Amino acid sequence: MNYIGIIGYPLSHSVSPVFQQAALDYHRLDARYVVWETREDRLEDTVRKIRREENWGANVTVPHKERVIPFLDSLDGDAPAVGAVNVIYKRGEKLLGTNTDVYGFLQAVEQVGKFTPGGKRAVVLGAGGAARAVVYALIKSRVAFLAVANRSPLRAESLLGDLGRFAGKGQEVMSVVLQDAVLEPVLRGCDLLVNCTSLGMKGSQQDQMPLIPGLIPKDALVYDLVYNPAETLFLREARKAGARTLGGLPMLVYQGAAAFELWTGKKAPVDIMFEAARSALG
Ligand SMILES: NC(=O)c1ccc[n+]([C@@H]2O[C@H](COP(=O)([O-])OP(=O)(O)OC[C@H]3O[C@@H](n4cnc5c(N)ncnc54)[C@H](OP(=O)(O)O)[C@@H]3O)[C@@H](O)[C@H]2O)c1
Repeated sequence: MNYIGIIGYPLSHSVSPVFQQAALDYHRLDARYVVWETREDRLEDTVRKIRREENWGANVTVPHKERVIPFLDSLDGDAPAVGAVNVIYKRGEKLLGTNTDVYGFLQAVEQVGKFTPGGKRAVVLGAGGAARAVVYALIKSRVAFLAVANRSPLRAESLLGDLGRFAGKGQEVMSVVLQDAVLEPVLRGCDLLVNCTSLGMKGSQQDQMPLIPGLIPKDALVYDLVYNPAETLFLREARKAGARTLGGLPMLVYQGAAAFELWTGKKAPVDIMFEAARSALG
């Protein structure tokens, strides 16, 4: 038996085991996708375990996407630029870290959201690990304007300190504090509004949203990275305001599909993964 795991803490709400196992079973692979719940002080040990022959790799999630980097042999794809790893895979004896969240976000926004970011105005709420992948994806897709709004403004500044250098001629990027009065002018003419905060997530933050409903731009695509519940309070209010909406599930499945192909060398059965993820969320 072979294993792939998800490394994070806590992991009780993860749906990755369900849809990744569905993909492994579809290809009749002798492998199980398991939960490797890991606190920070055990992270190095868990990563070392992946080196054993029976293990094919791992997903990495909150709070370890940045701290896992020193324990890997090298980074590739978008991981060095983003500064975060969500997938560990093996090539020969080497443990490589990559980032498929960037791909997952863009696939979801383009394929499911039917939205092309190039030349558009985008506002990203949040400046954590997920926001890093989203901001990098939007800058590389050549948005014309990008504002990153975060409760702790220093974190948004630091994010743009790292990623703003990828902006080219004619691209404007700025950071602001996540406050309704500050956001009001920033949201005028906004084409894409992305929630990368954890507000709205199942649990203690479920009945919270990142801005007041009156500020939701009705002509924008409103995209919430939170996938559980499938429709967050923020998306419900956006829908009521007349905006198009997109939930976090497609990004989760697409990042997982790219990871699956790195671990197994097989084509990811994306439809089966979607179906399994949707039924796991109820
Ligand atoms: N769909 C997908 O594939 C996918 C992928 C990755 C993540 N996600 C989701 O995206 C969300 C963020 O994940 P992450 O990895 O970026 O987490 P993270 O690194 O912990 O960042 C959390 C973000 O939420 C903000 N926040 C938390 N509580 C807040 C509050 N009460 N008021 C205002 N802002 C608040 C934080 O602001 P401060 O900096 O001020 O603390 C920070 O910007 C999670 O819900 C996660 O499940 C989805």
